[in-house]
Amino acid sequence: MNDQHGFTLWFTGLSGAGKTTVALALEKELRARGVKVERLDGDTVRKSLTRDLGFSKEDRDKNIERVTFVAKLLSRNGVAVLASFISPYRETRAMVRAETTNFIEVFVHAPLEVCAQRDVKGMYAKAFAGEIPDFTGVSDPYEEPLDPEITLHTHEETVEQSAAKCLTYLEEHGYIPVAESA
Ligand code: ADX
Repeated sequence: MNDQHGFTLWFTGLSGAGKTTVALALEKELRARGVKVERLDGDTVRKSLTRDLGFSKEDRDKNIERVTFVAKLLSRNGVAVLASFISPYRETRAMVRAETTNFIEVFVHAPLEVCAQRDVKGMYAKAFAGEIPDFTGVSDPYEEPLDPEITLHTHEETVEQSAAKCLTYLEEHGYIPVAESA
């Protein structure tokens, strides 16, 4: 008997908001609970499946379309998919919702100033200096989710708290078994 339900936990937000960090923490916890999980992440997927793409609207949409194809196959076969992509366009995220099984939109929110200050990859400094064109939040749009299932405020929460919010949602909706005891 496998009582695992496939789902697509979709992390959207600015670069440096904490999408990957929270997804990694969740992956660890889900695996510890015996859940089959696959993580899809912009930084790695763009080195393989979508390495031919850049950051125009067309290319970002193609990036998300290809990833959606993968997330669709996995989620409909009982796999827990953790997808972290800026995915800046509402309409494109609506397409992901329509295509995948049990889509859960997670808005990973931190103010732009905080993301820019963290500048984990040194990209904001370059973007503000005009060295990276079309940089999300600086010179390219980010359309915030209007009605996400989960919102994380990563400038006010610990990684553990953010991950716990997602776990609680998954448990409450019957997507994963409730942890035996904490
Ligand atoms: S998306 O817009 O197509 O969803 P994705 O999440 O795959 O983006 O990739 C974002 C990552 O690419 C960022 O975390 C950053 O490291 C890198 N990157 C390089 N150029 C840009 C840019 N112009 N805008 C945003 N991110 C960029």
